[in-house]
Amino acid sequence: MKAQFILRQSYYRMSENQLDHYVVIGNPIAHSKSPLIHAQFAQQTAQAMDYSARLVELGGFAEALKRLSAEGVRGANVTVPFKQEAWQLMGDLSPRARQAKAVNTIVISQDGDLFGDNTDGLGLVADLTKNNAVALRDKRILLLGAGGAARGVINPLLLEAPAELVIANRTVARAYELVDDFSSQGKVSACGFDALDGAKFDIVINATAASLSGDLPPIPDSIFNPGACAYDMMYAAEPTVFMKWAKGVGAEQVLDGLGMLVEQAAEAFLIWRQVRPDTSAVMAQLRK
Ligand code: ATR
Repeated sequence: MKAQFILRQSYYRMSENQLDHYVVIGNPIAHSKSPLIHAQFAQQTAQAMDYSARLVELGGFAEALKRLSAEGVRGANVTVPFKQEAWQLMGDLSPRARQAKAVNTIVISQDGDLFGDNTDGLGLVADLTKNNAVALRDKRILLLGAGGAARGVINPLLLEAPAELVIANRTVARAYELVDDFSSQGKVSACGFDALDGAKFDIVINATAASLSGDLPPIPDSIFNPGACAYDMMYAAEPTVFMKWAKGVGAEQVLDGLGMLVEQAAEAFLIWRQVRPDTSAVMAQLRK
């Protein structure tokens, strides 16, 4: 609310209908930092827009999308648990969203046509490579999880040409499904957590929902190569269980998903407004 207020202040001469409206929709949504991030991007780039969070009831996503179109909302970010449902409802999709089978960014045309994209993977790759100088080329990457969050980042990770991408999941069949979908794009394989004994990786990315419940995927303490990076796609005020564990067993760089959140937002902003905001100032603000 505060962020929206600040943004509205900076455009106080404009009437409400001169602002373009954007929203983030999810359930739960109260915790979302996206309104704050986009308000700062808009201020920084002098875009006449506002951005607010909307709670959508479970089972009410399609209806909520129709309402957005009717209200003239120009675009939406989609978060848990609607990314895969959003994918099914788009009139058109970017190639990366089509393949991810998940949509986190929607462009709504004046006629109400829906275009879906997915900026999560670009956000992760930008945060790793640009913000934290973690090179991915020729590296051995372990991706933990095979749900929507994992699916969204596989294509952008493979585009960085790692030596290998291994997907490990509690339910191994889901990891194999991802290999089927992405094997044409790079060296990608699947296994269960119990098959990781003795394996070593340069980058281990936690895309499971385990951190949400304070759980740790059961992977061996010996998993990290010297100089390795551990990345939790979750973020919280305190380091997650995965981050604490990784630090304790020798990962050199331990990162949370806040940078990914800001970077995926910047990609969405670029799609909507054709201007790329600077992410570093926003990141510094959020870290305070
Ligand atoms: P999301 O969109 O956040 O990825 P999801 O599609 O429900 O949500 O997927 C959740 C992922 O976290 C899955 O990989 C899930 O493993 P299963 O496929 O075996 O269910 C994983 N996950 C959730 N809780 C976990 C836990 N406590 N330990 C390990 N993996 C967990």
